[in-house]
Amino acid sequence: MNCAYRNVLIFVLVFVPGIIIGGMFVAIWPFSDYGKVNYNRPQDLPEPYTTEELLNIEDFYTAAKSKLVKNSAGVWEYFEGKADLGWTLDQNKRAYRRYVIRPRILRDVSIRNLTTSILGKLTSLPIGVAPTSMQKVFHPDGEIAVATGAGRAGAIYILSTLATTSIEEVAASAPQTRLWFQLYFKNDTTFNANLLTRAENSGYEAVVLTLDAQIIGKRVDQLRHGFELPENASLANFDSNMNQNSTDSGTILNQTLKVLRDDITMTWDVVKWIRDHTEMKLILKGILTGEDAKLAADYGVDAIIVSNHGGRQLDSVIPTIDALSEVVSATASSGMEIYLDGGISLGTDVFKAIALGAKMVFVGRAALAGLSVAGEEGVTKVLEILKSELDLTMALSGVSNVASINSDYVELYEPI
Ligand SMILES: Cc1cc2nc3c(=O)[nH]c(=O)nc-3n(C[C@H](O)[C@H](O)[C@H](O)COP(=O)(O)O)c2cc1C
Repeated sequence: MNCAYRNVLIFVLVFVPGIIIGGMFVAIWPFSDYGKVNYNRPQDLPEPYTTEELLNIEDFYTAAKSKLVKNSAGVWEYFEGKADLGWTLDQNKRAYRRYVIRPRILRDVSIRNLTTSILGKLTSLPIGVAPTSMQKVFHPDGEIAVATGAGRAGAIYILSTLATTSIEEVAASAPQTRLWFQLYFKNDTTFNANLLTRAENSGYEAVVLTLDAQIIGKRVDQLRHGFELPENASLANFDSNMNQNSTDSGTILNQTLKVLRDDITMTWDVVKWIRDHTEMKLILKGILTGEDAKLAADYGVDAIIVSNHGGRQLDSVIPTIDALSEVVSATASSGMEIYLDGGISLGTDVFKAIALGAKMVFVGRAALAGLSVAGEEGVTKVLEILKSELDLTMALSGVSNVASINSDYVELYEPI
């Protein structure tokens, strides 16, 4: 073979394919997930799927995401709602992976009891549904589906001030569910007193005062993708004046702002004001430090929720599971109940939170994922998955009832 012919052959057989494959690799690289952490997300589920095929909360997130992204612009961004870079949102979930369970063996755990006492009454499940606004955005049955679905699983349901179903309608539609009402306190005493009276008269047990969202966080994706409430949905707890016609109040952000009105005048006096205006139990939501937890106990509130609003408000604040121990030790002798929300997606997460001192936990997005995928049935399914995972964790850790889960069962783990 002459030399020139051999060189051409080498070029065609070796260099040309090499250049083509290399080029393809360079072109695909920026779009591939290779090298990125695909943290805890299963592959896209083949569609169609049944809810029976959704085995854990991550499956529900995946299914909810594909449905919401397809159905209506901006709703997924609202669901996720991360503030700034979403560090706190991400860490809320990841932080659980830094704690490990210390299981005990050779114990009879054939009968397990998940019942716990919350605000003086027994509840069959130490997992409740956190308040989330405008649930009709995710499913036409909205709040009624979530409240009834929660009740069917034995869970407490917290109705948001910014609900798309009224206080009264939810109470009438979910008589079997333990209901609490979440209040956004405004610099308008008539507004606050009116909501408290309506909730109390409708049989809500407690008012949950949210403290970390008097100004709305900077949710960049949401700002980019503003979306509208579906037709026939409005902020159902307000008069038409406040809801207004949708021309200037179209975006969800505007709707919310209209209610919150950047009111940051609230101080600890609010505790006394609420006590003077309702007999309902008082719970403060959005505490992250031992100092504020201690103040809450000194002011005599019934309970607090350690929460960072699911990473939707101030990014860079501590993940809730990491804040818990400080809050628990600052209030150890007070008798005030401590709950937690943020990032719960597994039964082991619930177990860890209870071990570190939470009396119960609440889930926000997990319940909304259930709602988005399958309405009331989906909400129940999500809660039942968490319940069975918690039950399994207890069985494999040698604990037969929720009251016995304590800090001996969990430790912070620093990988070498
Ligand atoms: C879509 C959405 C809307 C929310 N709306 C409210 C609200 O109206 N009031 C409130 O106190 N918290 C609200 N939150 C925060 C939740 O109550 C809860 O703190 C948070 O979702 C817990 O984190 P998780 O979603 O990781 O479980 C909302 C959360 C989401 C995801």
